[in-house]
This record gives sequence, structure tokens and C-alpha cells, in this order.
Amino acid sequence: MRKATSADILGNDSLEGLEKPTALATGLPGQAYTDQAIFELEQKSIFTNSWFAAGYSSDIPKSGDKKSVTIAGWELLLVRGKDNNVRCFHNICSHRGSKLVEGCKSGNSISCPYHCWTYNLDGELIGTPHLGGPGVSDVEGMDRKSLGLRQVRCDTWQDLLFVDISGEAPSLADHFTRLNCLLADYELDEVTVADVAVPETELPFNWKLLVEGGIESYHLPWVHPQLELPPKETSVLVDEKDAYIGHKIPLSIEEMRRRAANSETEASPFPTFRKMKINLENNEPINFYIIFLMPNAVVLLFPNYFILNLIRPVSVTKTFQTRKIYYLGDAAVSPELSVKREEIAEVWKNVLAQDIPFLVSAQEMAAVRKRMNFPTRFSPFWEIGLHRFQKYVARNITL
Ligand code: FES
Ligand SMILES: [Fe+2]
Repeated sequence: MRKATSADILGNDSLEGLEKPTALATGLPGQAYTDQAIFELEQKSIFTNSWFAAGYSSDIPKSGDKKSVTIAGWELLLVRGKDNNVRCFHNICSHRGSKLVEGCKSGNSISCPYHCWTYNLDGELIGTPHLGGPGVSDVEGMDRKSLGLRQVRCDTWQDLLFVDISGEAPSLADHFTRLNCLLADYELDEVTVADVAVPETELPFNWKLLVEGGIESYHLPWVHPQLELPPKETSVLVDEKDAYIGHKIPLSIEEMRRRAANSETEASPFPTFRKMKINLENNEPINFYIIFLMPNAVVLLFPNYFILNLIRPVSVTKTFQTRKIYYLGDAAVSPELSVKREEIAEVWKNVLAQDIPFLVSAQEMAAVRKRMNFPTRFSPFWEIGLHRFQKYVARNITL
């Protein structure tokens, strides 16, 4: 019997429908959000062959800090080495494959909890106690050098740690060349992560629904009335390599004053990015950005702060989201601004809370859509980015 191809799993009609112009296109079928087979295809393609976000550098600030990450079928271990560089390893012991580290740990070595094989921060195997019998840690012919941890290519963009499981993707600097040009005017290297602890949120739906819920602003007036619809000058930002898909939202000062919460006006107590300050002084529109770094991170850039969200798929219907907020200079930690920082964290927590019922429903309805073979449609103004994301998923899993 012929083995089912990914096109069979997704359906040829769906693939053809997705490739039409946005106004005529039909979206990913329901099974893309419910089927284990498709989740596994995503793991093997999207979360293997190119860069994806696995964590934050600020989560492992000191040499010896380690953090385990379960993401898209991978068990990874992020480690800050003695040279202060972050390395990533598969979180699996060379002896019998136990998981090495659970959660966050510190210390200059990594010891397996099962039989205590021990590795240094570079992943080299340095201890195999009682391997050859009581008190005998070495065994002739067993070459420790070949039994180090398996390293995963890892690089940093801002505070995000990206990994490339394949080891064959172009460098992260190449991958994000256009993104870096786009954001070059903003001094993102001068920000510090806020001290407000935002716990990771567990979400009972497929990771793509979380991306799709944020990549379009069409739902804003109904789901987030406090945010309003962006203006007609909003433009889609696409990258031919699909390293990112985003929106640039220009707001005039009057429009911004009318719409914005206190945190987003010049009256905000937080320092303003230089370019936006110049815009304000010259009475020019200010660009707000929301940019999805494919496949699983989000950048939101406002005049006074910057957000990095990380989306962590763990099963077909379970996803985690983490959010970190960054401010210029010591505004990220100064005690006199702590209430304001809490307020901004609360604003974004509430935005996600408003989205959740709709995304839970979208997950439930995906099963119904699958049974009905029901095609979805796109707005050719608001959902160009969403359409592009779905094409990116379909193309990657059907390669
Ligand atoms: S499985 Fe790790 S030391 Fe045995
Ligand atoms: Fe939303």
C-alpha cells in the first residue's frame, strides 16, 4: 500500500486553495490543528530545518545556569558556559538516555540523576562513577571523548535564544538580515528586561492558533475594544525568506493621544526610543510594530517599551506562551516605576485573556471543520500576514 504523503494528510484541495490570491484563498483545513500526524510533520520540518526560538538569554544570566526546554518534540538544555556564551544540547544522557536536567539549575557541571554520569558546561563527559565496578570509573575501550552531549546550534537575537536542530540553516545573522535593517533605528541593544515576573501561560490549543490570533488585527474592535482597529495606513511586512511576517502601524500624534493608554504617550514616565522621540518632536507619525519571527516568537515595539513573546508548542492541543517586557536604561528595574511596569504587564495579560475564549473555540471548531471539510477565508486587507503564515506552514510540512 502506498504510504500517505503530507499532501494527502493536509488534502490537495487545501494546498491549492491556499495558493490563491488572499481574497480567494481558503485556509488550512481543520486537521492542521487537531491531527498528531501533522504536528509530527511540523516538528520534523518547521522545528528541525530552520531557526526557532527556544528560550531567553536573561533566563540563564550567570555562568553555570541551565534551563531545560521541552518544545515541539525536542528536549533541549540551554547552558551558560564559563566563557559566558550560551550553548544548547539535547537534554539526554549518553548512558541510557535519561533526561539530564529538569527546570532551572546552577552549577559548573551537569550530572545525570540516574547513574551520575557527569558533563562539564561544554558538554564533555567528565565523570562515570563506578562504571567498571565499585570505585572503578574508567573502562578500557570506552572513549569518553565520543560520549559528550549532543550539541545543537544556538545563537542569540536580542534576548531570544534561537536553535537550529539541523545545523544546516544559514547563519542567524543572515536569517535576520532584513529584520535587523527594519529595526536598525531603534536602540534595542540598550534595553533591559523588566523585573516583573510574567509566568508562562499554558494554553489548551494548537500553537498555530496563537500565532494566527496575533498576526491579524481584524478582531481588535470586537475582542479588544480598548485597542481599536489600526489605521488604513497599516502595512504588512513580509520577508521573502519568511524569517518574519509583521505589521507596521503608523499613528499620528493626535491619533496616538486619542487612542493610547498612558504608557504609549509622550507623557509616559518611561524613556522613549530615540527615533520615536524625534518623530514626536517633529510632529511626525510614529510607527508601532508587531512582528512574528517565524515560527514561534513575536516582537512588539512601542515608543517606550519592547516585548518578546515566545510560543512553545508541546502537543497538538497544548501550547505555552511566555512574555518578557524590556525598557530603556534602568527604567526596567527602577523602584519608582515598578507600579507602572506592573500596569503595562497587566495590559498585555488582559489582551491574552480576551483572546483565549476565541482561540479555545477555534480549537474546538477545528475538529468540526475537519469533519465538514470546511474551508475558511481571509480578509485581503487584514489577513495577508495570516494567509502568508498558513502558506509557510503548508509549504514546510509538504516539502
Ligand atoms: S542514564 Fe544517565 S547516567 Fe545512566
Ligand atoms: Fe487578540
